[in-house]
Amino acid sequence: MKQTKGKKRRRLTTVFVLFLVLFWAWNNYTLCVNRQTIASGKITAPFRAAVVSDLHESVLMPAVVRRVARCEPDLIFVPGDLYTDDGRGQVDKAVAFCAQLAAIAPTYFVCGDHDHEQSYYDALREVGVHVLDSVCETVTVNGNAIGLYGICKVWFPPEYSLGSTFPPPDASRFNILLSHLPAMERFADFPLDLVVSGDSHGGVARLPFLGGLIYDDVLLPKLFYHGAIYDKGLFEVGGCRLFVTAGIGSYPFPLRLFNRPEVVLLQFEGEDNHEL
Ligand SMILES: [Fe+2]
Repeated sequence: MKQTKGKKRRRLTTVFVLFLVLFWAWNNYTLCVNRQTIASGKITAPFRAAVVSDLHESVLMPAVVRRVARCEPDLIFVPGDLYTDDGRGQVDKAVAFCAQLAAIAPTYFVCGDHDHEQSYYDALREVGVHVLDSVCETVTVNGNAIGLYGICKVWFPPEYSLGSTFPPPDASRFNILLSHLPAMERFADFPLDLVVSGDSHGGVARLPFLGGLIYDDVLLPKLFYHGAIYDKGLFEVGGCRLFVTAGIGSYPFPLRLFNRPEVVLLQFEGEDNHEL
């Protein structure tokens, strides 16, 4: 009798541990595609941009390429942190990954706080990636003129502002900034329509009622962070929209919870097409 009870307990423990392992793996190593509509009177014909961020040399790289290809985006935005340390193997892997993205659609990159090296930027340019290191490019997509700005900047000197980096934008275009950090206070003097950022990893774990677990190195930011929390999704900041992706990889530990690795498909459309 005792032996049977012991066997039953061991079996239940095994099933519970197995469930926890599978649940952890599902949260950290399965990829989803999330869609976000961006409507504007400046958009005359719909187009789509895939956002791929914060891979931290994730094992999901091949899956990301497949999913992005299936989405058939017109543009691809990569706001940084493709690798964590600057060992050559990781840089090469990140460059090969971006080359595959660039074969799908024009790919625009800005660095994160981990992957910033001049030789890396050069290697990305060689495989056809547009490195927006304080650069603006005008892109025409489905007849829409888009101003694409990018900054490879993750530490801002006190005097830094976007207005002192770029000439004033053409307000008739839809102007997008790629910046790893959603440092909206640095961009306030520059009229943009959209900022696309990463970095936050969506708060890593998302808890009921409390939101993200970590933001800007603060635990339980909803309770203890003094300032605006831009950790995941679409925000409106001073007349400009900000989209922050939760990204794909993990650093330093794979502790995502209810916050699966995501490729985001931004669906741009005119205000008339937008169904409210
Ligand atoms: Fe990151």
